[in-house]
Amino acid sequence: MAVNKCAAYDGLAKQLAALIAGETDLVANASNMAALVYHGLTDLNWAGFYFARGDELVLGPFQGKPACVRIAWGAGVCGTAAAAGRAIVVPDVDAFPGHIACDAASRSELVVPLVAEDRVAGVFDLDSPRMARFDEADRAGIEHLVAIFLAHHRDWRP
Ligand code: SME
Repeated sequence: MAVNKCAAYDGLAKQLAALIAGETDLVANASNMAALVYHGLTDLNWAGFYFARGDELVLGPFQGKPACVRIAWGAGVCGTAAAAGRAIVVPDVDAFPGHIACDAASRSELVVPLVAEDRVAGVFDLDSPRMARFDEADRAGIEHLVAIFLAHHRDWRP
């Protein structure tokens, strides 16, 4: 399973690099990254970005149902990952104090911060309707995709 997962993330990494290679527009590239991940992985009901704006996270490009637009820094899984500057894997969202339920179908979640030059510029968030959908291979795989995205947008200051 883990080997297959790593292979799947390697494939997604190559596809992401190719998708964004010729484009400098951040919103366009973030939109395609959300679509690539949402359709490239199984058992997801949401995949997308929140960007840092002052002391909040504001909804960015995503795939899935309409979601909460503003999340306070430190609130929910997204705000907690942003404040900590590190990824959070939540096997059971009901067991995470302060989890923000945008879609009642979500059972587990993975949030990876966008860390650019020691600043948290936002997060990439994945939700699943399956309990414990995400493991360390998913965390590493999504962190790699985020790193490819951020390397391509090195001069980005949200
Ligand atoms: N569940 C997240 C909110 C964002 S949605 O899942 C798209 C949280 O607790 O921060």
